[in-house]
Amino acid sequence: MQVRSLVILGSGWHPHLFREEARALLGPIEVLHKRMAFLTQSDDVIDRISGASLIDEALNSTSRLWVYNQEITPDEVASHVAEWSKSFLPEGTFSIRARKLGSGVGSLSRREIEVMTGAKIFSEKKPVNLENPDHEVVVVLAGPDDSPSQWDERESGELVLWGLRDPASIGTYSGPSPTERPFFKPVTLDPRLARLLVCLSFSRGKPSVIVDPFCGTGGIAIEASNLGLQVLASDLDSRMVEGTRTNMEWVSGKSEYTVKRCPANKIHELWGNIPGCSFVFDPPYGRNAWASEDGLDLLLGTLASARAMSPNGTVCTMLPSSPKALHGPISDSLQVMGMDWGPLKERIIETGWEVSVCSPVRVHKSLSRLVVLCHPAD
Ligand SMILES: C[S@@+](CC[C@H](N)C(=O)[O-])C[C@H]1O[C@@H](n2cnc3c(N)ncnc32)[C@H](O)[C@@H]1O
Repeated sequence: MQVRSLVILGSGWHPHLFREEARALLGPIEVLHKRMAFLTQSDDVIDRISGASLIDEALNSTSRLWVYNQEITPDEVASHVAEWSKSFLPEGTFSIRARKLGSGVGSLSRREIEVMTGAKIFSEKKPVNLENPDHEVVVVLAGPDDSPSQWDERESGELVLWGLRDPASIGTYSGPSPTERPFFKPVTLDPRLARLLVCLSFSRGKPSVIVDPFCGTGGIAIEASNLGLQVLASDLDSRMVEGTRTNMEWVSGKSEYTVKRCPANKIHELWGNIPGCSFVFDPPYGRNAWASEDGLDLLLGTLASARAMSPNGTVCTMLPSSPKALHGPISDSLQVMGMDWGPLKERIIETGWEVSVCSPVRVHKSLSRLVVLCHPAD
């Protein structure tokens, strides 16, 4: 098996969850910037990230230049890239694409870098082709975030990095709009989030089955099925059960699925014992769900049932939380599902699961949801 090194670039929508998704899919990564990670991996790395939600692109044969508060000119960057190209840019046509992450690096302009670098590399054996190049050289100007939409504990310095765009890079996932599905309700989870929850649930290896006990219109089931994972979906509402079936037939995904009517806290009785499941779901929530305890017993009962069904499984969910979650580190006094997060984590442990990752996502002005990844508590 060939070993290769790659740098992956993450979507600016949620750098923290980009890094967590990369860890879940790939194992240990070296974080170079909040939206950039370096990894040495075997052949299947591109396969493993091909279904990711927040990985923007992958670069091969990279080189980099840290910028420690000193001025760097476009000409210097172009010279470094041109030197690198002698060893790493194969013959054939090429193009240079510069992109900024965050606020970029000093006053470096993308356009100047593209023009100067192209001019230095250009030769008879390596002509420029902007339309349809054989190789695309990407120069990343990565700086601190100018307007981060969510709090992130990771600070980023300035860094210029370049490499060859891996042709299998597919870009941040958005998925077709759920309104195009035959069965749509406003509760439908955004495909990007549904895909993200499924990918995060790979954190202890590829799941045997994706189980969604609150399947609604099937948003999570569809993403799991598109990734080739077997799905067991259920909902208390028979209209949702029918609707998920209709949607699953319509997408004609790549895997087996079963949809049944069942209360979420009885899924172990419905499906029996199945090792290695991932339980991926967004539980029901009302307008003020983060301040009311309505859904709490249901959540805890569901977690206990999941544990009984698959004691070595993984849970990935989203819990309604106070919008304060977006502005700083998650504190134990944050309101999540009507109670403080510290005591809620203890209640979760009593069901047999332990929180490994939590990260807030903005829903609207007065609601955020905490993406929560859990593993067995023992
Ligand atoms: C937020 S929605 C899930 C949306 C879904 N992820 C989608 O993409 O359409 C929550 C679902 O939980 C279901 N539900 C409510 N109480 C339930 C219970 N006790 N057991 C199982 N399902 C329940 C509702 O019928 C609703 O479909």
